[in-house]
Amino acid sequence: MKLKIAIDGPAGTGKSTVAKKIAEILEIDYLDTGAMYRAVAKFFLDNNIDPCEIDNNTVEKIFKEINFDFKNNSLYMNGKILSDEIRSPEVGKIVSKVASLEAIRKKLTLIQRELAKGKSIVVEGRDIGTVVLPDAEVKIFLTASAEERARRRLKELIEKGINVSFKEVFDEIVQRDRIDSTRKVAPLRAAKDAVIIDTDGLTVEEVVEKILEIVNKKIKKVEKQL
Ligand code: DC
Repeated sequence: MKLKIAIDGPAGTGKSTVAKKIAEILEIDYLDTGAMYRAVAKFFLDNNIDPCEIDNNTVEKIFKEINFDFKNNSLYMNGKILSDEIRSPEVGKIVSKVASLEAIRKKLTLIQRELAKGKSIVVEGRDIGTVVLPDAEVKIFLTASAEERARRRLKELIEKGINVSFKEVFDEIVQRDRIDSTRKVAPLRAAKDAVIIDTDGLTVEEVVEKILEIVNKKIKKVEKQL
């Protein structure tokens, strides 16, 4: 049985940590779709492309120069493994704008489906349960308050040696939530059949445990039907 697990939710809910752990425990692949939007945003920065002045033709041209690959559970763009450079505040500032462009989303959605095809995989993002993998066997939507998410994000950035204030991180999270959940194409929202988990006050281990319970129930249910 091929098991697809969609994990969606806003920034700072611990999605990445949880998604990676689930994939590790189940010994299946893990795909971070946010990293793909970030890599495209970095490509915009590196090539002085303004996301506010882009049309469908430009997107076609850009994607001729961008090639994603997924090898040994790692994402590559144009032959280079995606590094922490895609997590810089500069990329953070424009990534929501890039992710709100319909033509970009269409391209990345197709690539993501292709990368996830035929395997058991945990796919993490904002629209995985609703748009990218609507047939995923398990759909999880993680939430947490903006303050809690900003605290977690700040800790992560400081550990990476990126020096920012709580206010900067908090404001960026609130701003990104607004853009992500109000955009016309594939807005951030839980799929109707997703299980919503509020992670405030829960440890990573507790969230992982809850998700594994849901996954195990699903596996048992499918096995019964076989
Ligand atoms: O998960 P993240 O914070 O690294 O995501 C970066 C940005 O990409 C964020 O603004 C949301 C956007 N994104 C998206 O629109 N759809 C996805 N499937 C994944 C990320």
